[in-house]
Amino acid sequence: MFIKRSLDAQLHLCLLLLLLIFALPDIVSVARGDVGTASHYSPPYQPTECYGGDPSQFPSSNLFAAAGDGVWDNGAACGRQYLVRCISASQSGTCIPERTIQIKIVDYALSSSSAAAASKQSVTGATLVLSQTAFGAIANSSMASINIEFQQV
Ligand SMILES: *[C@@H]1O[C@H](CO)[C@@H](O)[C@H](O)[C@H]1NC(C)=O
Repeated sequence: MFIKRSLDAQLHLCLLLLLLIFALPDIVSVARGDVGTASHYSPPYQPTECYGGDPSQFPSSNLFAAAGDGVWDNGAACGRQYLVRCISASQSGTCIPERTIQIKIVDYALSSSSAAAASKQSVTGATLVLSQTAFGAIANSSMASINIEFQQV
């Protein structure tokens, strides 16, 4: 009787471990987003490629961004929300640790006519070009570019 119960317990433990081993990669990949870079741009933030001069397009948090080519999705990115966090930069201490923000895409970083045009960007070619408020919320704003992890909400 004792031996049988002990065997049962071991079997249950084995099954639990197997479940963990197979389920863990899924759990981890859900929690992990893509990796890219972020720069920042300065006001005025209108007009945008997504919503023109509509002032109600900006979230009251002022956490928004222009999408680079990898995110823009031919304009389908307009209005999408992303969780963004700073993971590293060329200078250590740039990232504000443990800080994740949620931003809204309002513009296209490769547009020539919008407020997010290349001349307004701290550096060009970034995955996301963040508003000053958004960039300053996750990193030291004196940096032109940071490495980010981002994930669509
Ligand atoms: C941001 O970076 C600049 C330049 O490296 C530095 O002088 C400044 O102290 C930093 N600010 C903060 C809040 O760490």
